[in-house]
Amino acid sequence: MVYTGPRRVKTFVSGLDEQIESGIPVGTVNIVSGTPGSMKSSFAYNLLYHNAHKIGLKGLYISMEQDVESLKAQMNRLGMAEKTNKLIVEDYESLEKKLSTTAFQKIKFEQDWISRIRMYLEAFDSDAVDLLVIDSLDALYALTDVENPRKELFHFFKTLRDTETTCFLISEMTQNSDKFSNYGVEEFLCDGIIHLDFKRTGTILARLERFIGIVKLRNTNFSTQYFPLQHEEGRFKILTGDDLEL
Ligand SMILES: Nc1ncnc2c1ncn2[C@@H]1O[C@H](COP(=O)(O)OP(=O)(O)OP(=O)(O)O)[C@@H](O)[C@H]1O
Ligand SMILES: [Mg+2]
Repeated sequence: MVYTGPRRVKTFVSGLDEQIESGIPVGTVNIVSGTPGSMKSSFAYNLLYHNAHKIGLKGLYISMEQDVESLKAQMNRLGMAEKTNKLIVEDYESLEKKLSTTAFQKIKFEQDWISRIRMYLEAFDSDAVDLLVIDSLDALYALTDVENPRKELFHFFKTLRDTETTCFLISEMTQNSDKFSNYGVEEFLCDGIIHLDFKRTGTILARLERFIGIVKLRNTNFSTQYFPLQHEEGRFKILTGDDLEL
């Protein structure tokens, strides 16, 4: 089937899409990186949720660490409670159960999770899913013996690209690190890197402030500025020069 949807996927972070030529190019593989609690899962879920409800794009969210109930409860608290059959959320347990059914016979014998997810995605017919989130790459690595990262991740990223879905792979960063991914090679293989960051501001009553920056986005002119990121009244927004009266 010929794809007739938009050429760019909106992030649904108010103000951000204007900075990246209206959105993330369709069919690309992107990394969402950040330290613990930097709202990686919320950012990715927000993108799938609003694209499902407002644009009608079908999303698959694979949550390898947090179970479906806990993830959904957290997202409900952020104002994303409305149900839709255009957003499927799988966790480790539900996926394992699904993969053990006869429809996925072959996958059952694959031991490592990178291969399992590759085969699972290959089994989808090409227009079953528009948007995919894997939360997180690091959880997948913990369940997989990656002997030759350059080679194995090359094939994994190729599979993702071949599905023609727009992918968001969540990657955990350690504090004060400039490494956006575990092996480093992912940063070269991906088309885009979205960085969610925390900064401590103030001295006596110091507090953490959130920022979002686009580190890389192929085929797109984007601002290299880091923007303050807020979540208020059920939506994400960035603050730009106009808001900050710079
Ligand atoms: N409205 C809000 N504004 C700012 N922060 C919020 C808001 N609502 C929830 N949070 C905080 O966001 C954090 C959770 O975000 P999320 O789980 O998306 O982060 P994460 O980067 O995926 O975390 P992890 O590394 O644990 O997977 C929590 O610390 C939560 O308290
Ligand atoms: Mg998370």
